Amino acid sequence: MTRVFSGIQPSGVPTLGNYLGAIRNWVPMQDTHESIFCVVDLHAITVWQDPKELARQTREMAAALIACGLDPKRCTLFIQSHVHAHTRLAWIFNCVARLGWLNRMTQFKDKAGKDREAASSGLYVYPNLMAADILTYHATMVPVGDDQRQHLELANDIAEKFNHDYGVDFFPRIEPLIQGVAARVMSLRDGTKKMSKSDPSDQSRINLTDDHDAIALKIRRAKTDPEPLPDHVSGLEARPEARNLVGILAAITGTMPENVLREHGGKGFGAFKEVLVEALVGHLTPIQREITRLLDDPAALDAQLRLGADRAEAIAAPICARAEGIVGFLPRR
Ligand code: TYM
Repeated sequence: MTRVFSGIQPSGVPTLGNYLGAIRNWVPMQDTHESIFCVVDLHAITVWQDPKELARQTREMAAALIACGLDPKRCTLFIQSHVHAHTRLAWIFNCVARLGWLNRMTQFKDKAGKDREAASSGLYVYPNLMAADILTYHATMVPVGDDQRQHLELANDIAEKFNHDYGVDFFPRIEPLIQGVAARVMSLRDGTKKMSKSDPSDQSRINLTDDHDAIALKIRRAKTDPEPLPDHVSGLEARPEARNLVGILAAITGTMPENVLREHGGKGFGAFKEVLVEALVGHLTPIQREITRLLDDPAALDAQLRLGADRAEAIAAPICARAEGIVGFLPRR
C-alpha cells in the first residue's frame, strides 16, 4: 500500500486554509493508504515560539486534527519531536543539500523578511528537515497545499543526490498531491496573499476555532469589489477576492465554483457573504465542539499521541539506521 506522509506546524490554531488545502484531504486517505500525519513542533521553533504556548498549541493542533476526522486508530498521528529519526536524518540531509538549492527557497525569503542575517539557521535548513520527515518513512505520497510544492521538489533533489553520491537506490521519489479548488485559500484582506496562521491581522483568516460572531464579522468585512458575482468562472479572472470567496464556498459545500456561480451569479456580495457565513458556521461548529471535548481530557489525548509515536518510530528508526549505515556510521554495538 502506498505510504502517505504529511505535517502541520503548531504555530497557531489551524486556519481555513490549512483545513481546506490539506487536513480535509487527509481524512479519506486513511481508508485507502497507509497514512502518517505529524504535528511538526521542530519546524515551528525555526521562528520564536513561547515555550508554554508551543506546548499548548501542539496539543490543540493534535486535537483539531482528530476533530477534523483523523482517527488515531486508522492513521498514525504523532508529534515530530517524539521520534528522533527526523532530526538524525535531517542532519545527514544538511550535508547532502547544497547551499545553492536552499538559496532558491522562496519561503525562506518570505519568512526571513528584510533582515535575513537575523533569521535562525534552522529556518534556512527547514526544507532539509521536511525531506527527512517524509523520507525516514519511505513515504511516496505527500498531500499538501500549493505553497509546499517547492519544498517537495527539493526533497526529491535531496533523495536523488543521496542515492547518486552513495551509489544506492535507497530513497524513493515522492509525489506531491495538491488537490482541489482550495489548494490555495487566500487572505480575506488581500486576495493575492495566502491565508496564513502567521499573518499579523487576525481579520485576514478564519481560524477553525472562531465562533459564529467572529466568522460573521470577518466574512462581512472581507475585502471584495463593487461588482455583483459573475454567472461564470471566467468572470472571476482579475477578481482575486471574489474568486477566493467563491472557492471557499465551493470547497466547504463540496462542489465546484461553476455550481456556486450558477446558484449565486448576479447576487451582490452582501447577500452572498451571508450564505457563506452560514455554510462556514454549519461546517465548523461540530469540529469546534469536538476540539473542546478532546482538550477536556489531555491525558487521553497524550496517550493517543504516545501510541502514534510508538508506531511512527517502529517504521522510521530502522529506515534511518539503514541510511546511517549507508553513510558509513559505525553502529553502536
Ligand atoms: P503549514 O503548517 O504551513 O501548513 C499545513 C498544511 O496546510 C496547507 N496550507 C494551505 N493550503 C491552502 N491554502 C492556504 N492558505 C494554506 N495555508 C497552509 C499547507 O500547504 C500544508 O499542507 N512545511 C509544512 C509542514 C511540514 C510538512 C512536512 C508537510 C513539515 N514537514 C512533510 C508535508 C510533509 C508547513 O509549514 O505547513
